[in-house]
Amino acid sequence: MKLPSPRGPLSLAVIELLSSQVRENVGCDLAAPARSAIERSTDVLADEDVQLALYIMYELFYRGFEGVDDDWEWHPDVLLARGVVERAMEEDLASRVAVPSDVSPERSAVAAALFTLTAPGPGPSVARYVARRATLEQLRELLVQRSVYQLKEADPHTWAIPRLVGRSKAALVEIQADEYGGGDAGRMHCELFARTMRGAGLDADYGTYVEQIPAVTLAAVNVMSLFGMHRRWRGATAGHLAAFEMTSSLPNRLYGDGFRRHGFDQDTTWYFDEHVEADAVHEQIAGRDLAGSLAQLEPELLHDILFGAATCLYLDDLVGHHLLSAWEAGVSSLRTA
Ligand SMILES: [Fe+2]
Ligand SMILES: [Fe+2]
Repeated sequence: MKLPSPRGPLSLAVIELLSSQVRENVGCDLAAPARSAIERSTDVLADEDVQLALYIMYELFYRGFEGVDDDWEWHPDVLLARGVVERAMEEDLASRVAVPSDVSPERSAVAAALFTLTAPGPGPSVARYVARRATLEQLRELLVQRSVYQLKEADPHTWAIPRLVGRSKAALVEIQADEYGGGDAGRMHCELFARTMRGAGLDADYGTYVEQIPAVTLAAVNVMSLFGMHRRWRGATAGHLAAFEMTSSLPNRLYGDGFRRHGFDQDTTWYFDEHVEADAVHEQIAGRDLAGSLAQLEPELLHDILFGAATCLYLDDLVGHHLLSAWEAGVSSLRTA
C-alpha cells in the first residue's frame, strides 16, 4: 500500500520522515509535532491528523508501505512520537469509557459480566439499518469503512498470544486459528471479506480506501493495535476480542440480509454467514476461556479486561453513530477529497 496523503501537521511530519531513508536521517524530533498535535486537538478520537498519523505508525508493524524503509518500524523517533499519541488516547478513553465495577475475577463471573455488557440495546443499529434500508451505495460504503480492519482481520489481537499462558493462550489460539481459516488460505476471514468486497464491485487490495476512511473508523482500528502491541494491555486485548465476538453473530446475520435484499449471491454473503456460525462459538470461548481464565489467573487484569470490552463497544457506537447520522442525512460517511 502507498503512504496516504497527510491530514495535518503531524501526519505530514510522519509521512515526510518515513519518505526518507533511516540511514540518511540525522535525528528528527517527531515527538514535538506529536505533542503539539495533542495539545491542539479538542477530540483525539475524531482528530483526522492524529488518527491518521497513529494509523501510519502502527501500519509499519503490519504490511508497511511501498517505498518506506522497513527500519522505521522500530526507530526510536517514531516510537517516541507514537508513545505521545498513545498516552493521549489512553487518557481520553479512560475518561470516557464506563467500566463495570463489582465484578469478581472468577472465570464464570467475568464471562457473565461480559455477556451483560455486550447485550444488544434498543437504540439505532447499523446492522438493522443495513438489513432493512441501506441502499446499494451504502452497502458498498459499509464494506469500505470496514475494510481498514477486516482486510487484516484478527491480526491486532494475535499480538497478545505470546503474552498469555495456559487456558487463555489456548483459547486465543483456537479463535485465531478459525479467523485464519484453519490452514486453508481461501477460508481466512480477511480473504472471505475480500471476496465480499469484490462481489460488491470494490477493490479488495489492502489499503486501497484508507484515504476515504474518517478518523473515528481509524480510531477503532488503532485502539486494537494499541492494546495488541503492548504487553501491559494484554487484559484489554482479551476483553476487546471478547466484546467483538459477542457482538458479531447477530449483526452479521443482518448484514447478510441486507446484501441478500439487494440480490447478492452466497459467495458475496459468505463472510457474513460464516460469522453467524463461527462467532456464536467464538463468543463462548472468548468470554469464558480467554477473558474469564485470564482474570482468574491474573486478577489484577480484571479492570483492563472490562475496559478493553467497554472500549470496543464505545468505539463501535461512535462509528455506528457516524455512519447512521451520515446516511440519515443522505450524505456519505466517507471522507471526500
Ligand atoms: Fe472473523
Ligand atoms: Fe470470530
